[in-house]
Amino acid sequence: MSYHSVKLIKRPELEITEDIFNIVTQDIPTPAEGEVLVKLSHLSLDPAMRGWMSADENSYIPPVKLGDTMRASGIGEVVKSNNERFPVGARVMGLMGLTEYAISDGNGLNVIPKELPAEAILSVIALPGITAYHGVFEVLKPEAGQTLIVTAAAGSVGSLVGQMAKNLGLTVVGVAGSDEKCQWLTKELGFDHAINYKDADFVEQLTQATPNGIDLFFENTGGLAQGPIFERINPHGRIAVCGLIADYQKAEPAPGPSWVGIIKRRLSIQGFTMPDHFHRIPEYGQALGSMLGKGELKYRTHVIEGIENATSGINLLFDGKNTGKLIVKL
Ligand SMILES: NC(=O)c1ccc[n+]([C@@H]2O[C@H](COP(=O)([O-])OP(=O)(O)OC[C@H]3O[C@@H](n4cnc5c(N)ncnc54)[C@H](OP(=O)(O)O)[C@@H]3O)[C@@H](O)[C@H]2O)c1
Repeated sequence: MSYHSVKLIKRPELEITEDIFNIVTQDIPTPAEGEVLVKLSHLSLDPAMRGWMSADENSYIPPVKLGDTMRASGIGEVVKSNNERFPVGARVMGLMGLTEYAISDGNGLNVIPKELPAEAILSVIALPGITAYHGVFEVLKPEAGQTLIVTAAAGSVGSLVGQMAKNLGLTVVGVAGSDEKCQWLTKELGFDHAINYKDADFVEQLTQATPNGIDLFFENTGGLAQGPIFERINPHGRIAVCGLIADYQKAEPAPGPSWVGIIKRRLSIQGFTMPDHFHRIPEYGQALGSMLGKGELKYRTHVIEGIENATSGINLLFDGKNTGKLIVKL
């Protein structure tokens, strides 16, 4: 019996092109003592994968080595086990890579409930949810009555950020790249305002949507919206720098706003990456599961089929063509 996996064979120049991957067919391996064999059912495609492909050693996680399976998180079922923590039939989640089968020694593998759909887990309980939760509750620390703005607001992380803030009694403004996404934010998710950053009058719309300025900024993108948003942040405002997707495929990242405003308005700016906080997954997972169970968080997924479509699928994130959490169903 054989299976497919995606190997990274070249570093991307700027954009992700098909020639940097090789899809190989291999025999399904047998787990050694202490190991399990997992049959993957769903893979998660995330913007961070672009960073993991680059050669940059000065980051929060080492790059994927050339020739190795491309790193990605996924959900699967244990089909052979030599590890009593993960019996045959257990549903597990972890960074198992872009692959149909994976061997694991259990490190970084978590058993997850079978009751919830895989889509709900990858969209809410997994990386998007814990990222939104950490950024909102640990970095921005919102208070009712404040105004929060979030970029890539219709994406997996941004849509949860805005809903969490709405549930806490904030005024929430989302920034997204299409009118359809903006309508979903206001009509389905209850955002107070949603603005298309590609509109020529973006700055005017932003000014109208934030008459009392902006207290909290959850930054997912950089790019066109960042400068105008920065200018509307109130004294003592806080910025959580979660992602800068507009810069991931550029030779030179954008310079960003002047630091003078940080002094004048006494701003706090904090970057964060979730691997530093993975020890809090049980706590965050429980809180997110409870919010989901109470109907406080809605999500939508963008599902593509088959491992052979995973490599081109990643680019949907950079073209803004994903409508919801991007998932590969195997
Ligand atoms: N710090 C962490 O630990 C952590 C963890 C997870 C994610 N993140 C970051 O959070 C951000 C969102 O991730 P996600 O998984 O939720 O992805 P996502 O928002 O579901 O998808 C990415 C979205 O980014 C937007 N985008 C792409 N290029 C853009 C550009 N040049 N300017 C403005 N917007 C652009 C697109 O939406 P539009 O149609 O609106 O343009 C696209 O749909 C990413 O920057 C990611 O790296 C960070």
